[in-house]
Amino acid sequence: MAETCAQEQATTPAAGVPANVEVDNSYENDSAYGDELSSYSASLTSSVLDYRHENGRRYHKFRDGVYLLPNDEPENDRMDMLHELSLVLMHRKLYLAPIKNPQRVIDLATGTGIWAIDFADEHPQAEVIGCDLSPTQPSVVPPNVKFLVDDIESDWAYESNPFDFIHARSLAVSIRNYEKVIRESYRSVKPGGWVEFQDWDGYPTSEDGSHKGTGLQRFYDEVYGAFEGAGYEVRPGIKLEQWFKDAGFVNIHVEKFIIPYGIWPKDRYLKKVGAWCQTQAEALGFEGFAMAALTRFKNWTKEEVMVLASQARADGKRRDIHMYFDYYVVYGQRPENS
Ligand SMILES: C[S@@+](CC[C@H](N)C(=O)[O-])C[C@H]1O[C@@H](n2cnc3c(N)ncnc32)[C@H](O)[C@@H]1O
Repeated sequence: MAETCAQEQATTPAAGVPANVEVDNSYENDSAYGDELSSYSASLTSSVLDYRHENGRRYHKFRDGVYLLPNDEPENDRMDMLHELSLVLMHRKLYLAPIKNPQRVIDLATGTGIWAIDFADEHPQAEVIGCDLSPTQPSVVPPNVKFLVDDIESDWAYESNPFDFIHARSLAVSIRNYEKVIRESYRSVKPGGWVEFQDWDGYPTSEDGSHKGTGLQRFYDEVYGAFEGAGYEVRPGIKLEQWFKDAGFVNIHVEKFIIPYGIWPKDRYLKKVGAWCQTQAEALGFEGFAMAALTRFKNWTKEEVMVLASQARADGKRRDIHMYFDYYVVYGQRPENS
């Protein structure tokens, strides 16, 4: 993964931009112009935009098949709901790491780019990059954000231009070699810089066992079984701390949160978190989550997946099921003298 070779998304100027468009004089010589131009036009080529359509959903094309969740509008809406869920959960904080005046920041697997955009608004001095397999981020964004199409599981080439802060959120079921991404983050953050990962223990639980035997438990058992069989990391939350230690980070901090499914908790804060969790899952979240994993790896039909999803959705409305997920925010610092 390298900023120089990644395919940069073409952006359109915001409404109201003056006719005198400023010239980018940052290139070093004319011979580089052709390369730069081709990197822009590459973002429009079929390798990126000729999306895969399957069972009524749309999927990324770059590195076709490596990510099993859709990249269509319903999924993008769901991701934006996940962002709100995360903000409510973390008392409207985008991150917990004690960063100071970051200049160069990357959001790995940025999704709709909403975290990167909010971060860039909060830190106008910072240059913020969001990278993802899909170029589905908005084109009108703060001037200090740019989006790249790239695969975070490939080797990185950021060591010569490292970051002050590297952030990643909700990569459960997204990637296979999660530990390698953390090692690459260590290599690509400046000495003294911070890395923060926020992620799920995908398997739900309940203190009173009320989720057992329900459509919800069956859904997660079937779907995560398919993801795990295909090599994806489903429970990164519980492993992040050890991976950070193994990579060499110091000053590691772990914060564990609870995400209820639904509005069953009495506590107003948890009720609100649970409402967002249920809302995002009902926004075609169950189908989107399960469709590719079960049809590609377990030979289920689309109709069978829809039935599984609708049983989960129906049981999700029951107040007597007290299911929740554990969610972890882990950050660590690369030693100053490394
Ligand atoms: C559940 S979404 C999370 C999006 C975002 N981090 C957030 O919290 O709003 C997972 C994202 O990971 C991206 N992704 C999956 N595998 C990837 C890879 N190997 N390289 C880059 N992005 C990847 C997907 O395209 C998707 O946008």
